[in-house]
Amino acid sequence: MASVYLNNAATTWPKPPSVGAAMADFLSRGGANLGRGTSSSRDMGTLNSVLDCRFRLAALLGGWEGGDPRWVTFCANVTEALNVVLRGFLRPGMSVLTSSMEHNAVVRPLRALEASGVAVTLLPCGADGALDPRALSEALSSRRFDLVVLAHASNVCGTIQPLGEIAALCSAAGVPLVLDSAQTAGVLPIDAASLGLAALCFTGHKGLMGPQGVGGVLWNPEFAERVEPLVLGGTGSYSHMEEQPRELPDRFESGTPNLPGIIGLHASLGWIAETGLDRIAAREHELGERLMEGLARVGGVVLYGRRSMEGRLSVLALNVDGVDNGMLADALSQEGFETRPGLHCAPVAHRTLGSFPQGSLRVSPGYFTTPQEIELFLEALHRAVERLKERN
Ligand code: ALA
Repeated sequence: MASVYLNNAATTWPKPPSVGAAMADFLSRGGANLGRGTSSSRDMGTLNSVLDCRFRLAALLGGWEGGDPRWVTFCANVTEALNVVLRGFLRPGMSVLTSSMEHNAVVRPLRALEASGVAVTLLPCGADGALDPRALSEALSSRRFDLVVLAHASNVCGTIQPLGEIAALCSAAGVPLVLDSAQTAGVLPIDAASLGLAALCFTGHKGLMGPQGVGGVLWNPEFAERVEPLVLGGTGSYSHMEEQPRELPDRFESGTPNLPGIIGLHASLGWIAETGLDRIAAREHELGERLMEGLARVGGVVLYGRRSMEGRLSVLALNVDGVDNGMLADALSQEGFETRPGLHCAPVAHRTLGSFPQGSLRVSPGYFTTPQEIELFLEALHRAVERLKERN
């Protein structure tokens, strides 16, 4: 049976071979804790790899002050990173603006903050999932916001937001902009400092091609000063102090971090640098185009988001008339094709796209997907649709 992985929007797979190799090496030969030992070669090995991982992230994502590694702090994933920023910054009486295309990683913390007195506004996006900069401009001039938080691209339908225009509007209005780069880091070029972002939240296991369980925040250090940490404790530094140190990255990194994860991410960032962002984006674009053209040949397909590959990622959400997307995903999975049906942890985005409550079938090829696999998928989709329609 064919085994074809088309769920890269959930997590990229396979990972570059260097990722698993670096993690296995760390666990079997390296393995020292971070800043909690002496200066043995194992201690220094961990310290150097973690530091170099911060350097690589800052270089890839456009860190402040020439990519100062101190402004990269690690946590478990982008959801935790967004919680660190949103719940560490927003206080009762403040107001925050976000869009109607967000993931629950943004929406749920904001709804909880709303219950404690933070005013939350969801700016409606178009039916293609795009945020209109004119609507943002109007919103920003209609009242004072303390923060804007947005996903760079939709995890449901791949629509990329016009980040340059959005960031310029937020800068002009003097409102800090926090970016959820879950779907774009490692796929699209991002220059956080030049854009004037306040913070960029990332996850290691999607476009950054690393393992699950590691993510973090790339900070504008001035904005970071205004954010209180959610977790306090040992940092392996300033051990004479009973209070949390203010210095970065220590302030946001209490407790032993996911070191195997960071080591794996360090290796995957090396792979991205060798491969080149352009090549990665071009490959994904080409696969998306092939998929989109093929879908147009399957009768009754409703595609969500943008109708061409311009301004979108190769994350395609679809429904087929008269067919339940969960049943379709299941039928495809029985033939070895891995996708993700349903609501993708993003109910507000599905409402915007017109696919709530049924959700959609999400198909997301990745760098290692082959054109042949796309063809096999299209044939399998055709068969599955015919079979399910016969059953109805
Ligand atoms: N947020 C991830 C997804 O969209 C896990 O599937």
